Amino acid sequence: MGRDLREWMDKVEAHGSLERIQEEVHWEEEMGAISYCVNQELGAPALLFENITGHETGFRSLWNLFGSDTTRLALAMNEDPSLGIKELISLGRDKFGTQIDPVFVDNGPVFENSEYGADVDLSKFPSPITWPKDGGQYIGTACAVISKNPETGTVNVGTYRGMLQSENTATVNAVKGKDMRAHVETQWERGEPLEVAIVYGTLPELLLVSGSKYGEADNEFEYAGGVRGNPIELVEGETTDLPIPANAEIVAEGRFLPDDYESEGPFGEFTGYYGERVEQSPLATFDAVHYRDDPILTVAVEADYPGGDNGVKATAMRGSRIWNSLERDLGVPGIEGVYNPPAAAGGGGMTFVSIEQQYPGHVNQVASVISGAPVSAYFQKLIVVVDEDVDPTDLNQVLWAISTRFHPREDIEVIEDTWGYPLDPSLPEDERMYGAKLWLDATKNYKHYDEGEFPERLALRRETYERVADRWDEFDFDIDLPDLPTFYEEESDEGGVSRSVDQ
Ligand SMILES: Cc1cc2nc3c(=O)[nH]c(=O)nc-3n(C[C@H](O)[C@H](O)[C@H](O)COP(=O)(O)O)c2cc1C
Repeated sequence: MGRDLREWMDKVEAHGSLERIQEEVHWEEEMGAISYCVNQELGAPALLFENITGHETGFRSLWNLFGSDTTRLALAMNEDPSLGIKELISLGRDKFGTQIDPVFVDNGPVFENSEYGADVDLSKFPSPITWPKDGGQYIGTACAVISKNPETGTVNVGTYRGMLQSENTATVNAVKGKDMRAHVETQWERGEPLEVAIVYGTLPELLLVSGSKYGEADNEFEYAGGVRGNPIELVEGETTDLPIPANAEIVAEGRFLPDDYESEGPFGEFTGYYGERVEQSPLATFDAVHYRDDPILTVAVEADYPGGDNGVKATAMRGSRIWNSLERDLGVPGIEGVYNPPAAAGGGGMTFVSIEQQYPGHVNQVASVISGAPVSAYFQKLIVVVDEDVDPTDLNQVLWAISTRFHPREDIEVIEDTWGYPLDPSLPEDERMYGAKLWLDATKNYKHYDEGEFPERLALRRETYERVADRWDEFDFDIDLPDLPTFYEEESDEGGVSRSVDQ
């Protein structure tokens, strides 16, 4: 049997990255407040609430699965937990693009407890109200919603917010353009219900892929297997024809009955603002719920960074997948690094990309691909292109490049009417679905400088750096020797601009 949430939590705890909270805490605003406050510290731990007001002992809730900490992300990727975000973005290029077929097993821990029909009662799980104006208890945040394309039979797994509406119903707010929403609409046009299974206590690797944009024809279970390097174990659903993870903590099975909508929200979102009330959100009616002994409801706080869960995971997923869209899918050369700063609304608002410029127009080509690629087209507003001697994960270097290599008259483009975002507060509500992208070219200017003319960047002589490195311990600084993005090269005296760089 493969890995489950608990095995990952054990490893996380062994690395000091999980705190258990045994004191009684209320589901209404208190768990949310604790998580938001703890998260203000970069690298804050995951929080397991074990004693929740009004809930049976053993009905637990795990918050802040990833947050701003790379240890937990690395462990979910089956990688060395000491790696930083830059290395994880690089490794993610293979990890997040690899498919491993899931395997079907006969039984699994998810069936340790099952209730059916009138006995289904989702209120036994400690669904929180996180923010003062949230419209209800959100059982679905760090969740995985499983449905099938009614025409092709392809399985989709997506993360969409879900509000508890009664003991056996919950809304699922997949916005227009998301796969589950399209499945519901197709099936309802035929006057038929759509089967759904919702994993409310999920697996870490599944959360990484279910919350990220994969193609409509892609089965996210295959990508989740790729992330951890071995297959996800699935069991057949009992009241639906859907596959469900055998090791899940909590799964509810049911249907979206034709034209059955309910209103939901507001809900505190990853933008750091409330997402408004939605009048018509598809309502799932459940006829079975399965859960492990001592089940764990997985929860994501949505908030401004670093207060929420949309930190390093969103940054790593986006950076590595944008890089692949450019280089592997389209063959654009010279890509040295991609970074979506987590503070930019979970990486969704900005992309920094470093390239080794190889021909006129290369910069705008890169920016235009990022503006249109499925993984990055949605929402995102600002794309900054820097040269290969600038580390896009280092905000200081990016700001330096913008200040010295970007000119406000020469190096700026605004692309209108792109894929917008319904929660973008910078536009009135009825205009939000049409967004715009701003491109900043913060590279050495190819148009105005011939090769070799651009002023030479200050850089240490490599031999001097190495001499200092050899003696670093002698000086007894309480500071690690830094990696430097580039070194002075003798040849650059003759030719001016040196493109010889060591990153
Ligand atoms: C914690 C979390 C909550 C999310 N909530 C929503 C949501 O309420 N509605 C939505 O459409 N997308 C939401 N997303 C984004 C989707 O999961 C993401 O766009 C994903 O690509 C959707 O899957 P799909 O491409 O298969 O439709 C959320 C993502 C995360 C990580």
